[in-house]
Amino acid sequence: MPDGQADLRRNTTEDDITESVLRRFAGTSDPRLRQIMLSLIKHLHAFVKDVALTEAEWFKAIEILTDAGKMCSDKRQEFILFSDALGVSMVVDLLDHRKPDGATESTVFGPFHRLGAPELPPGGNMAHRDTEGVPTLVSGRVVDMAGKPIAGALLDVWQTQTNGLYDAQDENPDDLHMRGKFRTDSEGRYLIRTVRPVHYPIPSDGPVGQMLKATGGHPYRPAHIHFVVSAEGCEPVTTHIFDRDDPYLASDAVFAVKDSLICDFVQHGEPDATARDLGVTGPYLTASFDFRLAPATTELGTVIDAAARLAALGRQEKRTAC
Ligand code: BEZ
Ligand code: FE
Repeated sequence: MPDGQADLRRNTTEDDITESVLRRFAGTSDPRLRQIMLSLIKHLHAFVKDVALTEAEWFKAIEILTDAGKMCSDKRQEFILFSDALGVSMVVDLLDHRKPDGATESTVFGPFHRLGAPELPPGGNMAHRDTEGVPTLVSGRVVDMAGKPIAGALLDVWQTQTNGLYDAQDENPDDLHMRGKFRTDSEGRYLIRTVRPVHYPIPSDGPVGQMLKATGGHPYRPAHIHFVVSAEGCEPVTTHIFDRDDPYLASDAVFAVKDSLICDFVQHGEPDATARDLGVTGPYLTASFDFRLAPATTELGTVIDAAARLAALGRQEKRTAC
């Protein structure tokens, strides 16, 4: 008699069913896949039993996942949003990107990175179409664990416009804006012209927004600028810098704030020589942040890292040298 039929006869209680399913998957030959499947089955069954899930609730869950799938496109990834809003992305990030003490901490990648951001010179303005925001100069150094400057490090930078939208969410979604790639000079220094980042809601017109509303949450992320910083021989870091004055620091919708990433955005009335040279004519802000990179533990560089993540969004991987 096939094993499956033998299993069926014994399935008299919910725990029998769990045991039967575990036995069925225990033959998976790939050891890592076996570990993941068995743990998933155990936890999923335990969850269903714990809350005594009704059939109506189970159907509702299927409906929510179906709606999430229908919302996904190359510009919207509702499943990543679920992962972010449930804190799973940050747990995975912590487990998979452990860094030595003192290295710049990583945080959530988010769904709005795009390939093809322009390479800009030091001080290049990545907010050239944003006329509302307060001009802001972000500068600092990229160093190794011994504090030695890293020349030629690449900073892939992106943020929302002052209206709180990423370029892909706005009127001309195909035009790149608020993005740039910057390289460090011989002293490891970088300089970016942008506008002050603002807090903004994660997309909340879909199932994730409904979940936040139904559970009394809010969709806001504190003001931040995204970075992927990489250099030859170093572990790339995917991170943000956050504005210390932001009211949502303690309640980020995606749980991504780390103390070490909070930064002062300092106001100035009159442009100094550097700001004037970059075309700043009135009040502006400066923020200073140093990135400390750990030695590489894998052969994969940042661009591959970013591209691998983007591949999960269904986009084409593009291998370019960093
Ligand atoms: C972001 O910061 O771009 C982001 C991160 C997670 C979810 C949505 C947006
Ligand atoms: Fe963001």
